[in-house]
Amino acid sequence: MKMIRVAIIDDEETAGSMIKRILDKEGFEVETFLAGQPFLNRMRQNPFQLAFIDLNLPDIDGMEILRLLKQTDEETEAIIITGHASIESAIEATRQGAFHYLTKPSRRHDILLLANRAREKIALREENKKLKLAMGKDNLVAGFVGSSPAMQEVFAMVKKVAMVNCNVLLQAETGTGKQLVARAIHALSPRKDQPFVYFNCGGFTEELICSELFGHEKGSFTGASSTKIGLFESAAGGTVLLDEIGEMPLSMQIKLLHVLQEREVLRVGGTKPIELDIRIIAATNKDLKQAILKGSFRDDLFYRLNVVGLHLPRLTERRDDIPLLISHFIEKFNLAFNKEIKRISPHAMELLMSYNFPGNVRELENIIQRGVALAENDELKVVDLPASLRELAMRGFNGEGMPTLAEMEKHHITKVLKLTGYNKPQAAAILDIPRTTLWRRMRTYNLTDES
Ligand SMILES: Nc1ncnc2c1ncn2[C@@H]1O[C@H](COP(=O)(O)OP(=O)(O)OP(=O)(O)O)[C@@H](O)[C@H]1O
Ligand SMILES: [Mg+2]
Repeated sequence: MKMIRVAIIDDEETAGSMIKRILDKEGFEVETFLAGQPFLNRMRQNPFQLAFIDLNLPDIDGMEILRLLKQTDEETEAIIITGHASIESAIEATRQGAFHYLTKPSRRHDILLLANRAREKIALREENKKLKLAMGKDNLVAGFVGSSPAMQEVFAMVKKVAMVNCNVLLQAETGTGKQLVARAIHALSPRKDQPFVYFNCGGFTEELICSELFGHEKGSFTGASSTKIGLFESAAGGTVLLDEIGEMPLSMQIKLLHVLQEREVLRVGGTKPIELDIRIIAATNKDLKQAILKGSFRDDLFYRLNVVGLHLPRLTERRDDIPLLISHFIEKFNLAFNKEIKRISPHAMELLMSYNFPGNVRELENIIQRGVALAENDELKVVDLPASLRELAMRGFNGEGMPTLAEMEKHHITKVLKLTGYNKPQAAAILDIPRTTLWRRMRTYNLTDES
């Protein structure tokens, strides 16, 4: 992670150096200042990403420093340090753009918590900026994203293939973007103003496929009450995507081979061949070589289709693309659902980064679609992910929303104290701890009789 530059501006030297010591250990790069002006001068030479600002400074008012800071760089985060007396002003400062405030005397735990939260916010913003940049560049066509080397290679191939008028075979797992690739090839080719026609070969009988692809003459079979133009004909000058080509019946494969070889089509029941000018892109998530060995796919058809073969990597082979795809889908479904999700929580991101996505990009898209629909504020959280994924989170991963041991302890002690009407000897007995331990815990957790 990039070092975060932190400034501490506090005229009380010991307070400032205590914060510095704590943050130094956490890997922040810290400088301290005893007054406002030296800080402002330094800031102009070498900016800070985070500033702890005491409200009462000898030269400039803390609020004024906050204003100047935000004016110079809106993205610098500020944490206001304040005594109990001026807590109102500190709250006002958060309205003026301060990230948070810290009361004096400050506890190590609070300092760390706020600094780490600010760091998280800064890191997320950086990440988002990078993603925005990546999305803007090297995108082949709108809505087709990928910055991983593997996808950049696919994009380069698509661009090249688009300009050549040859058949293309796409072999890749389900949900990896085969249809998007086919559409991109068409959109970037000289055929782009002609039709793009989609046909799924799966689940049809030979008769139906014939009639759909080739069309038929009136009266060619019972029920053929009028002449029908086939898909091949209607795609004249354009591109046809034959999806699930591996499902095409063998008897139909030979007819398709004929069309590809002769570049002409005969309507069912017709006698006059019609010349065809189409580019065929075939797609499958099967291993056609394997199908050839088994005898369910013709090898001559395979070679006709596979003039250029393209393979798309599985999502887990290019995990770098996951954050980019998530941003892309969040934007997409924000629009669709009229929501304003701005980010995904680090834990949710971590979980998605380690998931194995058998359904590839489609599965990720569905997960984000559901998440955007469910998310309650502007952040997509682990609770917005499907239960199956959340269960994964519970195994070996520090799940978001799980209380820490300290929180559980505080909760439990409070409960027992309340039950006993704050009778400490009795509470200590129930908890089975010495009274002194109970008192110490109460101090640690700020538990007073009124709480
Ligand atoms: N690189 C990508 N960028 C943006 N969206 C993508 C990308 N890859 C896939 N998708 C989206 O994922 C979904 C599945 O993609 P597509 O339909 O192209 O997959 P496919 O390989 O044809 O899958 P199948 O074999 O199951 O038909 C689509 O909604 C598509 O928009
Ligand atoms: Mg598909």
